[in-house]
Amino acid sequence: MIRARIIGTGSYLPAEVVTNASLAARVDTSDEWIVERTGIRQRHIAAPGEFTSDLGAAAARRALANAGITAGDVDLIIVATATPDQTFPACATVIQHKLGMVHGVAFDVAAVCSGFLYALSVADAMLTGASSVYRTALVIGAETFSRLLDWDDRATCVLFGDGAGAVVLRAETATGTSADRGILACRLHSDGRYNDLLFVDGGPGSTGTTGKLRMKGKEVFRHAVTNLANVMTETLAAARLTAADVTWVVPHQANRRILEGTAKKLGLPIERVVITVDSHANTSAASVPLALDTAVADGRIQPGDVLVLEAMGGGFTWGAAAVRW
Ligand code: UT7
Repeated sequence: MIRARIIGTGSYLPAEVVTNASLAARVDTSDEWIVERTGIRQRHIAAPGEFTSDLGAAAARRALANAGITAGDVDLIIVATATPDQTFPACATVIQHKLGMVHGVAFDVAAVCSGFLYALSVADAMLTGASSVYRTALVIGAETFSRLLDWDDRATCVLFGDGAGAVVLRAETATGTSADRGILACRLHSDGRYNDLLFVDGGPGSTGTTGKLRMKGKEVFRHAVTNLANVMTETLAAARLTAADVTWVVPHQANRRILEGTAKKLGLPIERVVITVDSHANTSAASVPLALDTAVADGRIQPGDVLVLEAMGGGFTWGAAAVRW
């Protein structure tokens, strides 16, 4: 059988760092509240004129270099984003152009904070399907969420940041057992009943404006821990693994308390969870590949390790992937 293996990772963070203290000078909040309730200490914010496609292309270039290949080897680009440069064309085709590619297929997926898991799952299916014509994919999560924030709303503006992460996936022959390296299983869910708990109050087809992010944080939090623990267990079972087999959880970085609650439900020590929310905040679709690249670059993730990637976001959408490194 064919499996999709991650052969390279890369990420990019804009240069400007905004601390909790500098937000406290703008809205009625404090470093103490933000750290205690979320674990966030700082976030990166894109410069004026720096777009999601710039962040995504930079992360993609680093992932290609890490994989030891060039854009010429890539035949599929999938970008997860809720903050494309323009309503259309897809951010993926903009990145394709920035990478100098005039071949292949590029498109976006929209699943907000779960977008990278959705994009990974689609790429996995396109690389490993019986009639697949694709061999090497770039899967990118890239966001400039700072542009969707209401900077006067302390309940949301302290939570998010900008950034991008990318992986290179390659189709490889495998045995079909959980000892294979690569993506072992993906599981996705969505439930539109919860659209009004986390949304943007505008859009090209309704207001004709971009809109601003609105969230009922407490209610999102309640759903997050349960949904994430359930989908991780479901995905591990599909890969014929259990939580005891997991070397690293690579989660969406929304709130440190969600990471702790989910790990506890699975019976995993928090030391097994890759945590970047303190320095990146919530970068939506970029957060999982940013955390993955961080733990690959610092040597925590090693060949043979079992990873569970997970995320939940607006929609609601949520999902997980079990990967052997
Ligand atoms: O990525 C998509 C998924 N998103 C998430 O997973 C987000 C999930 N939700 C959360 O992470 C948390 O619910 C928040 C961090 C958003 C909020 O934490 P919380 O512990 O649920 O706080 P809360 O909303 O219940 O607010 C508690 C208090 C309120 O004051 P009162 O009503 O008790 O007087 C808020 O007005 O904290 C107040 N508050 C703040 N205070 C200082 C809300 N935001 C702030 C703030 N600084 N930035």
